[in-house]
Amino acid sequence: MMAISALLMPLVMFLGRTSGADVDPTLPFSEHLDSNHNVLLRWGFDLLKDTITFQVTVNTTGWVGFGFSPNGGMAGSDIVIGGVGPGGIYFSDRNAAGNFMPALDKQQDSKVLSLTEGNGQTVMKFQRSIKACDENDFPITDKPIKLIYAYGTTDDISYHQSWRGTKEVNLLNYMHRTSVPESKYFKMTVTNFTIPAVSTYYHCKVMPLPEFDRKYHIYRIEPVIQNLDLVHHILLYRCPPSVTKLSETQCYTTETKCLQAIAVWGVGGEASEFPEAAGLPVGEGGNGTLYRLEVHYNNPNKIAGVVDNSGLRFYYTAQLRQFDAGVLQTGLMVTSGKVYGIPPNTTSFLTYSLCDTSYIPQALSQLPTGAKDLQVFAAFLHTHLAGRKVRVGQFRDGEQIDVLVQSEHYNFDFQQLTNLGKTKTVKLGDNLVVECTYDTYNRSGLTWGGLGTNNEMCLAFLYYYPALELSTCESFPKLQMLMSEMGAANATDWLKIMSMKMWDNSSILEYQEMLKRIEQFIFVGNIETKLQNTGKIPDLKLSPSSSCKRSRAQIQRALPEILLLGLMLSLILS
Ligand SMILES: *[C@@H]1O[C@H](CO)[C@@H](O)[C@H](O)[C@H]1NC(C)=O
Ligand SMILES: *[C@@H]1O[C@H](CO)[C@@H](O)[C@H](O)[C@H]1NC(C)=O
Ligand SMILES: *[C@@H]1O[C@H](CO)[C@@H](O)[C@H](O)[C@H]1NC(C)=O
Ligand SMILES: *[C@@H]1O[C@H](CO)[C@@H](O)[C@H](O)[C@H]1NC(C)=O
Ligand SMILES: *[C@@H]1O[C@H](CO)[C@@H](O)[C@H](O)[C@H]1NC(C)=O
Ligand SMILES: *[C@@H]1O[C@H](CO)[C@@H](O)[C@H](O)[C@H]1NC(C)=O
Ligand SMILES: *[C@@H]1O[C@H](CO)[C@@H](O)[C@H](O)[C@H]1NC(C)=O
Repeated sequence: MMAISALLMPLVMFLGRTSGADVDPTLPFSEHLDSNHNVLLRWGFDLLKDTITFQVTVNTTGWVGFGFSPNGGMAGSDIVIGGVGPGGIYFSDRNAAGNFMPALDKQQDSKVLSLTEGNGQTVMKFQRSIKACDENDFPITDKPIKLIYAYGTTDDISYHQSWRGTKEVNLLNYMHRTSVPESKYFKMTVTNFTIPAVSTYYHCKVMPLPEFDRKYHIYRIEPVIQNLDLVHHILLYRCPPSVTKLSETQCYTTETKCLQAIAVWGVGGEASEFPEAAGLPVGEGGNGTLYRLEVHYNNPNKIAGVVDNSGLRFYYTAQLRQFDAGVLQTGLMVTSGKVYGIPPNTTSFLTYSLCDTSYIPQALSQLPTGAKDLQVFAAFLHTHLAGRKVRVGQFRDGEQIDVLVQSEHYNFDFQQLTNLGKTKTVKLGDNLVVECTYDTYNRSGLTWGGLGTNNEMCLAFLYYYPALELSTCESFPKLQMLMSEMGAANATDWLKIMSMKMWDNSSILEYQEMLKRIEQFIFVGNIETKLQNTGKIPDLKLSPSSSCKRSRAQIQRALPEILLLGLMLSLILS
């Protein structure tokens, strides 16, 4: 592999020079490692492919070192050193035993992608696996990790004339901290609400945003929690224009139409911030739009009389970002009747839904000019109490090309906005499949789809830019087909057959496969007006695991690059 990486270097550099873009969607995160801002780290990752990509930019024409340390010092650290010298590019993966020249790692697991020098700066871009490939590699986890850097003024790697430092950064769980000159904010909270003395309570308040004189972009959302021991999670949903009445009641006791989630916070969560390229627009469409704040209180000791003012704080700016961000709801359409049933007493029941994005243009009143792709940067996955896993598969031309986001340990009590690690492109025409896994082990009756916490949902809210005039792309199996396959003549009959059925392992599996096989109605549009189309659920493959194993597949994939290099060399030489 080393030989291939070395061969690839000139090619990568050549390509690097031709594309002059300074916003790289594969490196959405950045942090200065030193207070003088001489060392800038940009990074992005792909949890499924098990890769993390770093780009270190240092104001020097000498060597650059960067790595991971158990304690902030050199000893025991895993580092890479590279630069552009008189003899060309150099780059190596090393381990430091102490404060002296680090030894080469026997296994070179970091791969340089490009190394350039210009304007007095050196830019080193490399990729490694997130996991450790050998005992000398430092595993990258979702906890803060001590990064170390050092650099010299020449390409002689020597300790005495180097600048060095350390900074602790949570690479896989990073939240931007933009400093915006004018930080205005507004809050959406409950006001002096007395938390009922019951173990679980959902409080809903439908209210307007403050009035705005112009368009602004929300770029940061922070929790405002008054009773940390009782407030469990908070969601803010946008209402459709038909909702015009303010209200404050227990959630889901009356029919609600305000279902488009735009912000979420869960216990253990922090603030969330949008990428530099995008912000959530407010103030454009007038002052009338209402929002529904949902606060989930968990009060197992049934404490009485606690007054609460919790909610969310939204930071906004008049310095508009390049793109409006939008939220697209995908997944199984939420129904209120007893229609979609999950069988009892099973530990992993799978449900599927389909968003065929080729139907999106028909649903828009006008196609956006310019880029039509959705740049997805974060997701919020949502099921109720029986949900255990959620995956969003991405298909192009009938082939699965990615898993956009997945949660292998979904927990209703710890719902979070998940950053994707890099901005992923969904092209119009791609199919998105949301798969949910449920555990109904201790339930004796069917679990129906619906709004209540004891009902189920399977939703993935995708945060993307540029925003389209669109809120949902979701599906539901064709009910007529489902009923006839289960031998039901009508809805009453269906309910009876489903409830009376003696479920066992094989009938549960059969039913699960039927739900997946039956054609789906796909609904694309807004909460109130949706276009209806049809489609079939493709097969979702298992998620890939480690990038360390140099499998045959990877070597084969590298071959065309070598051929391309040969072609380019022959072009240059001729
Ligand atoms: C680093 O170099 C860049 C490009 O030459 C320059 O814009 C920047 O101001 C420099 N930073 C410092 C801290 O000197
Ligand atoms: C909430 O309660 C506090 C303390 O009792 C009181 O000062 C405040 O005016 C109340 N706010 C509203 C909006 O009622
Ligand atoms: C919203 O309300 C503000 C304050 O009353 C007003 O200045 C602004 O013009 C209104 N915006 C629209 C679009 O009507
Ligand atoms: C099922 O319920 C029993 C009794 O309520 C409880 O002890 C057990 O842990 C539950 N099992 C699961 C898998 O939730
Ligand atoms: C679940 O199924 C097992 C057999 O697989 C049975 O022993 C148990 O009683 C069932 N539990 C419920 C709640 O129906
Ligand atoms: C539904 O179908 C069942 C079984 O064929 C039948 O007995 C019943 O009358 C039907 N109900 C309605 C409302 O059509
Ligand atoms: C049904 O499947 C569960 C696991 O999902 C297993 O524990 C159980 O033994 C199976 N029951 C039968 C009768 O095969």
